[in-house]
Amino acid sequence: MVVELTINGNAYELEAPVGRTLAEVLRLDLGLTGTKIACGEGHCGACTVQLDGVPVLSCITLVHTVGDREVTTIEGLREHPLVEAFVEADATQCGFCTPGQIVTASALLAANASPSDDEIRHAMAGNLCRCGTYPKIERAIHTVAGDGGGS
Ligand code: FES
Ligand code: FES
Repeated sequence: MVVELTINGNAYELEAPVGRTLAEVLRLDLGLTGTKIACGEGHCGACTVQLDGVPVLSCITLVHTVGDREVTTIEGLREHPLVEAFVEADATQCGFCTPGQIVTASALLAANASPSDDEIRHAMAGNLCRCGTYPKIERAIHTVAGDGGGS
């Protein structure tokens, strides 16, 4: 089946069999490998992208259900201040979870420019980090929010 997608402002048209996930299309068909697949079952958040600004798990999102919603991947967030903030806060270790963390955090900040610690933890709860960088991720988000610390 033909699928038409808008990803990071660019239009794509490709053939995709029924049952192909958005994560597979991004990584395998389009070479947008910033989106990671870890569990592949909707449990870890590594594959998070945004559809019309809302974080979704691309490993369990069938590409044919995306429709005309705008897809934003980590490649579309290269210039987002969270990228530098994660580096400054030393919030990446192995880095495998980082794209998904930034995608989710950017959606949070777009909806809530000054989130509390609880609001950050609630919004980020679906993004697991096996390296345990959670406090540093929170610090990075607060840095971009402009409050520099917790609340
Ligand atoms: S790879 Fe999608 S939730 Fe883990
Ligand atoms: S930095 Fe390694 S899993 Fe998060």
